[in-house]
Amino acid sequence: MNALKVKNIRKTFRLSKKQRKIEQTSIKKKIAVDDVSFEAKPGEIFGLLGPNGAGKTTALRCIATLIKPDEGDIIVGDYSALKESTEVRKRIAFLTNELKLEDHFTPNYLFQYFSRLHGIDEATIKARRQRLFQRFGIDKFQEVKVADLSTGMKQKISIAIALVHDPDFIVFDEPTNGLDVMTAKTVTDYLVELRNEGKTIILSTHILHVVEKLCDRVGIIIEGKMKAYGILEDVIQTSSDGTLETLFFDLVKEEAGEVHG
Ligand SMILES: Nc1ncnc2c1ncn2[C@@H]1O[C@H](COP(=O)(O)OP(=O)(O)OP(=O)(O)O)[C@@H](O)[C@H]1O
Ligand SMILES: [Mg+2]
Repeated sequence: MNALKVKNIRKTFRLSKKQRKIEQTSIKKKIAVDDVSFEAKPGEIFGLLGPNGAGKTTALRCIATLIKPDEGDIIVGDYSALKESTEVRKRIAFLTNELKLEDHFTPNYLFQYFSRLHGIDEATIKARRQRLFQRFGIDKFQEVKVADLSTGMKQKISIAIALVHDPDFIVFDEPTNGLDVMTAKTVTDYLVELRNEGKTIILSTHILHVVEKLCDRVGIIIEGKMKAYGILEDVIQTSSDGTLETLFFDLVKEEAGEVHG
């Protein structure tokens, strides 16, 4: 299995009049991702760390083939996300909190539905559902409508559904956002399990300890630019006091200085 490689991608959005008013700017274009590169190898978790609006979701949406970068390329294993998006979609999981589960369906129905969309046979659907539902404690709730489930349960169902096709590449946007510590741990433990199976995992977060605990490699993105990147230990070593927290704050402050000062 080959690595996932993001090569010098750039993504610019044209801002609508309404957006310009909200953001109090007269600038018509926003460079959301500015010449960003990174890679994750099979059996690795890469963490894309950045404050709100840094460009994390935009970068991950490019990888998941939902949007195309204006420049650069993304190689997912053996395929280009820009030129061979169908092949990439077969092999990739994408989780984002921009998507909401349909309220009046049950976990069981949703799992079946998305599995069939992927053309998976019934026996395999059953086996995967068993593994994932058991792992996330969804079993008991499989016939309960999504509307009646907790935030944590909904997130776990979203994760199970994202993994129906047993993809080799897993791209999760803020997977533990809004979860209590127990639920968050269920999710991160499972990511470690998938990593140990040799999956290639990319996650975005603004939670420092998630990166410290989980990630093999890290990238710090601020205002669309990759400010630090490498093996977690190596990146932490560049911090003035040897902590990721200080490095992160220093980089954010430095960027704010550049922008406003
Ligand atoms: N479709 C779009 N049209 C215009 N601007 C956009 C669009 N999508 C994102 N942006 C802008 O691009 C920048 C990066 O957004 P993005 O959602 O990638 O950040 P993020 O790091 O995921 O932030 P958060 O932590 O809040 O999720 C922001 O300034 C955002 O307003
Ligand atoms: Mg985001």
